[in-house]
Amino acid sequence: MVISYSQSGQLDEIVANITRPLSGKVAVVHEKLVPVPDFPFPWKDISFWDAMPESVQMIPSQLKPLSIDPNVHFDLLILAYPIWFLSPPIPLTTFLKSETAKEILNGKPVLTVIGSRNMWVNAQEDIKKMIAENGGQLKGNISLRDRHNNLLSVVTIIYWMISGKKERYLGIFPKPGISDKDIAAAERFGQPISDAIAAGSFENLHKELLKLKSVELDPAIISIEQKGKRLFKIWSRFILRKGGAGSAKREARLKLFKWYLLFVIFAVSPIATILFYLTYPLFFWRINRNLKYYRGIKLR
Ligand SMILES: Cc1cc2nc3c(=O)[nH]c(=O)nc-3n(C[C@H](O)[C@H](O)[C@H](O)COP(=O)(O)O)c2cc1C
Repeated sequence: MVISYSQSGQLDEIVANITRPLSGKVAVVHEKLVPVPDFPFPWKDISFWDAMPESVQMIPSQLKPLSIDPNVHFDLLILAYPIWFLSPPIPLTTFLKSETAKEILNGKPVLTVIGSRNMWVNAQEDIKKMIAENGGQLKGNISLRDRHNNLLSVVTIIYWMISGKKERYLGIFPKPGISDKDIAAAERFGQPISDAIAAGSFENLHKELLKLKSVELDPAIISIEQKGKRLFKIWSRFILRKGGAGSAKREARLKLFKWYLLFVIFAVSPIATILFYLTYPLFFWRINRNLKYYRGIKLR
């Protein structure tokens, strides 16, 4: 069973490629989460930033009832999601905090599939906790990301999100999102999944997926992400004090956050990256311990 949320369809394309090798061997049921009201795509400027506080604080909203029977038998749940503001997207949080999720996940093996810009490790920690709270067992993770330079990918993703066009901005910037090559190559993950289902055991699934480079990490990006998540928690509380999602009263604070974030990304993060590499030897053990942890699927 696949449960996913994807606005542009990028992640659904990835999931379709991953599950292609299962065809003819395993029945695949794909349930797409539909928020009520739906989030706009392309995003209208302020609505994009308005999704930050609820994403970070993991405040659920509403979903259209699922079309699947939560009690139906399935071997593996594939949970596919993008990242919103270093956190699980609101539709995924809404699903994982529902009673239906408990019925579906309890005692079931779960494989997460992430399609992000490049900062996903904190959101996956939140997802790991919610899977465990629902009685699910995380057995594997596949994380695809945009491989371009961090600052370039910020420009291109914003262009994509507010224009709805996954194409080269001004003809000079690279194509936004996960590359066509990486999306097509996701098909390689299908075989170990198929083998695990056939064997009825998911104990080695993550190890087999890792051999196929299912998780690639950049320590400098993780370092920026950690700091970012701490700041997003403060900002989200500050904005929520002015009201809930869509409230006009919080617009001024959202605009402040937007300019603050763009300033931090373009002016502060390059310096933070240089400092990270200058001090790398001092924190060598800690950084490597973190890399090992984030490559895995255990919950700290
Ligand atoms: C509101 C919003 C916030 C986002 N924040 C992040 C982020 O913090 N880290 C990241 O790697 N990607 C971020 N992205 C990009 C998404 O992870 C994803 O790559 C993109 O939305 C395409 O996914 P889709 O399959 O839903 O179309 C964000 C996207 C949106 C819409």
